[in-house]
This record gives sequence, C-alpha cells and structure tokens, in this order.
Amino acid sequence: MTEYVMSMRPREALAALVSPEGRRDPYVFYDAIREHGNLVRIKPGLMAAVGYDECSRALREPRLLVQDAKSHDLLYPDWRSHSSLRRFTDSVLYSNPPDHSRMRRVMSRAFTPRRVAELEPAIVRMADRLLDRMADLGSDGTPVEFMAEFAYRLPVAVIGEMLGVADDDRIWFRAAVEDVTVALEGISRVSRLDAANRAMDELASYFAELVDQRRRHPADDLVSALVTSADTDGERFSHDELVGNLVLLLAAGFDTTTHLLGQGLQLAFENPDQAAGLRTQPALASGYVEETLRFAAPVHATSRFAESDMDVLGTFVPEGTKVLVLLAAGNRDPLRYPSPHRFVPDRPDNQPLSFGAGAHFCLGAPLARVEARIALPMLLRRFPRLAPAGPATYRDRLVVPGHERLPVAVG
Ligand code: HEM
Repeated sequence: MTEYVMSMRPREALAALVSPEGRRDPYVFYDAIREHGNLVRIKPGLMAAVGYDECSRALREPRLLVQDAKSHDLLYPDWRSHSSLRRFTDSVLYSNPPDHSRMRRVMSRAFTPRRVAELEPAIVRMADRLLDRMADLGSDGTPVEFMAEFAYRLPVAVIGEMLGVADDDRIWFRAAVEDVTVALEGISRVSRLDAANRAMDELASYFAELVDQRRRHPADDLVSALVTSADTDGERFSHDELVGNLVLLLAAGFDTTTHLLGQGLQLAFENPDQAAGLRTQPALASGYVEETLRFAAPVHATSRFAESDMDVLGTFVPEGTKVLVLLAAGNRDPLRYPSPHRFVPDRPDNQPLSFGAGAHFCLGAPLARVEARIALPMLLRRFPRLAPAGPATYRDRLVVPGHERLPVAVG
C-alpha cells in the first residue's frame, strides 16, 4: 500500500472506493480504513466495520437493525415513490423482528436442505448442457464470454428450476435483475433508480401472476411451497410480502452466484497449480470455493442501524448510527487470516463472512456453495486448455462488483 493511501483519513478512504482506483482495487482502501481501527467512525452518524470479529459481532447484534421502512422514512421520506425500494422493503432482507422472524420461518421451511440436495443431479445436467454450448460457440477459436454463457446461465437456470418458472421466462431475467439490483446498492443511489423501478414493476407483475397461478394449481416448486405454507400455517404473508420475497430470491439467487463463478474462474487463471488440482481432485472444490468466497467476496458490504447506544467489542456506537459492515474487508483481516491477501484454498478454519451472519444469514448459502463446487471442477475438466481471451471488464458497483465480461478461449 502506498504511503499516501495509508495516511488517508477513514472518510477519504471510504470516498475513494467510488474512484477508478477504488473500483480497481477496493482492498487497499479497506486496509487504509483498518489503519484507524477495526470499527471506525467515518463521520457523525456513520461508522464502518472492517475487522472480522467486528463485522461478525455487528451482524449478530440484535440491536443493530437492517434498513426497514422506519429507517428509510428518516433518511429519504420519498422512498415509497420508488417501487424497487418499496418491494424490496417488503422482503426479509429489509425487515426486522417481528416481521423478519415471521417471514424467515416460512421461507426457511420452504427452502430446506432436502430441496437443495435434490437439485444436485439437475445442476450437473444443466452445467453439462452449458459446457456443450460453450464448446460449440468456441470450437472455431472464437472467444466465449464466460459471464453471459455460463456464469449467469447456470444460477438462473437453478433458481428458475427451484422457483418453478418456465425456461422462456429466464431469458429476460438477466437484464431485469441487472437493473433491479441497483436498488440493493443502498438508498444513497436513489437518483439511479428509474431503470430499477421499471424492472421491479415487470418482475413484480410476473411473480404476482405466478403466485395466483400456483395458488389455483399448486406444483412441486418453491413458489407453491411458499404460497401454501404462507396461506395455511397461520403466519400469513401479505400478497406484497410474497411478491417482494420472490423478486429478492430471484435477484439474490443469481446476481451473487454468477459473480462467485466469475471470480472462481479468474482465480483459476491466476493460480494454475490450484486449477490443476481442482481438475483432478474434485474433493478440493469445497476448500477452493470457500477461499474464493473469502478472497473475492461477491457481496462486499451491508449495513445496520443502531437502535440504541451500545458497545460493540469495546467501541461505542451511538443510537441512530449507520454501521457499514464491510464483509470483504473483514475477510482480509490479518488478525483472523495470516497473509490475508494471498489466495490459499487449503486454509484451515476458513469461515468467510461472505454470506453474512446472524438473523439475516444468507438463505441460499448451501445452494450457492453446491453450484460452485459442482460447476468449477466440471468447467476445468471439460476444457483443459481454458484460457483468458481478452481483457476482463468489471461492473460499476460497490456492493456486488464482479465481472461484466470475462472472455475465454475454450481451446
Ligand atoms: C455466492 C452467492 C451468494 C452470496 C455471496 C450471498 C450473500 C448474502 C449476504 C451477505 C446476505 C446477508 C445480507 C445482510 O445481512 O444484510 C444474504 C442474504 C440473503 N440471501 Fe444470499 N448470497 C448468495 C446467494 C444466494 C442465493 C443462491 C439465494 C437464494 C436462492 C440467496 C438468498 C438470500 C436471501 C433470501 C437473503 C436474505 C435473508 C434474510 O434477510 O433473512 N442468496 N446473502
């Protein structure tokens, strides 16, 4: 890290994350914040957690709440005029107890480990089909765009299968989810919400119709399971909550997993020995995926609000403070991980913060892990000479940065 970056005040380092340098490598700026402590005051009313323990503690602290309708009202009274914010605020991600606990109970029941395990053979089949397609597209030496042709298509097919949406409908999801997830980047981006609102309206009317259909004719899918348990177990979801949570499942279900696959492949290119190991010993996939999650977290940050004055691991957090929980920074905390900036797939006791922690711990973590553990070794085995075929480009996002394009030659 240059002396100049290291001497930055926390506020400057945080602001630098949106600069071209910050976009290229946010980790040096996370480290610049870390120079001032693991839970740092940025300005009045704003703190940032960059330590592993501090991030983990903040996420498990029940008095640190997620942004919900009440906190949106304080920050941005006009938020309800944006359908993207309104609908996501009906979901678990932006709800606190008792609403969060009520919805989460029903969703966890419909989202069981059995359902994930049952999907494994289908994931292998879907990945195989996509690899065939990549082989066709690249057979004459034409570069294949990995993000569009595989990293996006596999998770969308899997979540589509789980939700029970028709194949044809999955085609337009990518653009819609690309637009709608801007609303998950934080309320500070309200000026960029027009496209997100349009996409949300489209997705919400799609899911509203699907909910009505499944209510009339239940099938063996997640939408039917949610509708049935929401209608019958006395913990009713409102119609808006069902729709908000289904859009969240779709968006969270592939926008993130897509980037886990992109980062997993990029790291394979940068670490050919590890890639070779993964090709021949699929049992190494679990450690490889955990380290990819740690080293290149698909979701860099989330936030919480202090409901009252409190102490978080010895640091005073005043009531009303917004705490940025920089998961990607916590994953590179030298107090938790020796040589945190090295990619070491066989790290002992690797428990990255990438799926969050506490009450909002990612509902889809087992599914995302299974997809990556199956797909990455299959990809590397199928194309032993897989190589980059041009420069990768990156999204202009702070929370879920990831690749925009990752052209490859299938060899
Ligand atoms: C690599 C892939 C994924 C990553 C890195 C990821 C990351 C996260 C993180 C960090 C959170 C917690 C946010 C917070 O505490 O504020 C979260 C929550 C959530 N994730 Fe994921 N996720 C991934 C895949 C998935 C998948 C595949 C699904 C669904 C099929 C999913 C559904 C959800 C839901 C519903 C929540 C909200 C849980 C709640 O608020 O109670 N995620 N995810």
